[in-house]
Amino acid sequence: MRKKIVAGNWKMNLNKSDAHILYKNLESKSYPNDVEVIIAPASIYLDSFSNASKVSISSQDVSANDNGAFTGEFSAEMLSSMNLRFAIVGHSERRTFHKESDLLIFQKVKMLLKHGITPIFCCGESLSDRESKNHFNIVKSQLSQILTMLSKKEFSKVVVAYEPVWAIGTGLTADPQDAQDMHSFIRGLISEAFGSEASELTSILYGGSCKPSNSRELFSMKDIDGGLIGGASLDSESFESIVNSF
Ligand code: PGA
Repeated sequence: MRKKIVAGNWKMNLNKSDAHILYKNLESKSYPNDVEVIIAPASIYLDSFSNASKVSISSQDVSANDNGAFTGEFSAEMLSSMNLRFAIVGHSERRTFHKESDLLIFQKVKMLLKHGITPIFCCGESLSDRESKNHFNIVKSQLSQILTMLSKKEFSKVVVAYEPVWAIGTGLTADPQDAQDMHSFIRGLISEAFGSEASELTSILYGGSCKPSNSRELFSMKDIDGGLIGGASLDSESFESIVNSF
């Protein structure tokens, strides 16, 4: 049985006191035992949430470098020394605004795995890719490094998040069947690379305007194992209701 996961990506939102209020609210709720609930606050707050018990804490990014003269960056070793178990990598906002390449993202994945942290690896096509019916090719190429250059053992630690760029923060959600088609395609690629057992064990999350009104339908799809939630994760009631929509 693969793991169900709902992860809240807070992005660059919330001042310190608002972040703590949201965190406390989330820690006071109850969640189904079989769902891993994760929050990814801004990196400068990560250490202050290290006592979390109901939710796991994730970074929103990591450096591709080991350590040293990289002003402003933080390493996988630092995250591991704070007992963090997850880090998001390859989010479309990093791909777009920071020009992160597939190779750089792969290096980040390697660095996280070296330090025992689970990468939540994001992929997803733009609107023009989808309109030109190139979306499967784009997602395949985004996944190609982790599918060809990681060992099966390394890949077994990876969580994949499919996030169509046109659905992120726009209010437009992928039609559940279209999302399912992409998730099934991704699972097929994993199966080709590492075998069907490995593919059946990989959690593949959906992200992009996922909210209480559509999460139930999305999560009922055979190959959708949870969500990576942006905007709706900033409200504890919405986030709780998404977690409970399994
Ligand atoms: P959204 O963001 O839920 O606000 O669309 C999702 C994400 O970027 O991870």
